Amino acid sequence: MRHYIRFPRSDGTHSRQAHADLPEGTFEREMSKDGFFGPAAHFHHRHPPTSWARFSGALSPHAFDLNKLPVQPGSPWDATAFLHNGDVKIRHWKTDRAMDHLVRNQDGDELLFIHEGAGELFCDWGRLDYRDGDYIVIPRGAMWRIAPGAPTTVLLVECTEGTYTLPEKGIVGPHAIFDPAVLDTPAMDAGFRAQQTEDSWNVVVKRNGALSTIGFPFNPLDAVGWHGDLCVVRINVRDIRPLMSHRYHLPPSAHTTFVGRNFIVCTFVPRPIESDPGALKVPFYHNNDDYDEVIFYHRGDFFSRDNIKPGMVTLHPCGFTHGPHPKAFAAGAKHARKETDEYAVMIDTRYPLTVAALPDGVENRSYVDSWKPKAE
Ligand SMILES: [Fe+2]
Repeated sequence: MRHYIRFPRSDGTHSRQAHADLPEGTFEREMSKDGFFGPAAHFHHRHPPTSWARFSGALSPHAFDLNKLPVQPGSPWDATAFLHNGDVKIRHWKTDRAMDHLVRNQDGDELLFIHEGAGELFCDWGRLDYRDGDYIVIPRGAMWRIAPGAPTTVLLVECTEGTYTLPEKGIVGPHAIFDPAVLDTPAMDAGFRAQQTEDSWNVVVKRNGALSTIGFPFNPLDAVGWHGDLCVVRINVRDIRPLMSHRYHLPPSAHTTFVGRNFIVCTFVPRPIESDPGALKVPFYHNNDDYDEVIFYHRGDFFSRDNIKPGMVTLHPCGFTHGPHPKAFAAGAKHARKETDEYAVMIDTRYPLTVAALPDGVENRSYVDSWKPKAE
C-alpha cells in the first residue's frame, strides 16, 4: 500500500474533471504515477504537446514493420527477440511447418499471441486447436510444440522469472472484460493419444537463456491423465468484451488482460467511441511517466495512428510524450468516427526495454515525425 503525497489543487483555466469538457481550444496532457493509477496532473496546453519542431536522442519512439522479418521455421527458439528487459522478452516468430521437437521454457511463463494462422498445439495436458487472435498462456516448465495447419505468425511474450495472472477487476466484478469460463484448456483426445509413439523425440529446454537438448526414445507427451489447477489456457480476442463509457475516455489500463512481473498485457478490441459531446474521443496526451509502452497492431484500422498496419509494432519509451496523430485528433473533434475496429496488444513494462539489432528496413526511422501537422 503506497501513501502518496496527495493534495488536490487547481489553478488557471481548467476543466472540472479529467478528459471531459476541456477549455476551448486547449489540449489536455496527463502526467501520472503508476501507469494511470497514481497521483496525476492534467494540464491544458495552448499547443498539442507533440508539436515539436525537432526531436533527437534516446527518447525517440520506434516503429517496426515485423512483416519484413523472415520466416524462421523449426523452433520458437529461433524467433526474433526484438525487445527485452529483465522481466519480459518479446519475440516474433513466423513458421509454416510442424515442429520436429518439443520445447520447454524454464525461464518463465510464455504467452503466445497468434497474429496469423491456425493449427494445433500439443502439450503436457493434451491437444488444443489455435487460430488467429488466440492468446495461449503456457506455464513455465511445460513441454509443447505446434503443428500449423496454415502459416503461423506468433508474438511470444516471456514473463521472465515470473507468472502470468489475471488483473484485479475491482468494482466491475470477476465476469467483466471476459468471464473466466471462456478460458479453454487442452484435451487428452484421440489426436493427443495418436502422437504418443515410441519414436525418438528431443526436448529443447531454455534456462537462463541457454539451450539444452534432452533426447527420449519415445514421445514424452505421454500422460494418460492429469489433475490440478495449473494448465495451458487459451482465450481469443473475440471473447473480450471491453469496458467502455459513453461519457469518459478510459485509460488503457482498463483493457488489461494479463499481468506479468513488472509488466501488463492489454488488449484493444473494437468499441463505440464516446458519444457525450464533452468527452474526449481520442487518447489523451501523456508521457506514461513510469512505463515503456509497446503496441502490436493485429487487425483493423488504427484510428489514432497514421501509417500503422497489422503486423507493425510501436515502442514509446517512458517519458516520450504521445497522443493521437493530428488527423485522428481532428477526426475525433468532428465526431467523424462512431466506433473503432482495431485489435491490438499492448505491453507496458515498468523498466526500460532494449531494442535488438534488426534487419535493414524493419524500423521506420522517421516515426518521430509522424506527429508533425500535415498540410491539408
Ligand atoms: Fe500511451
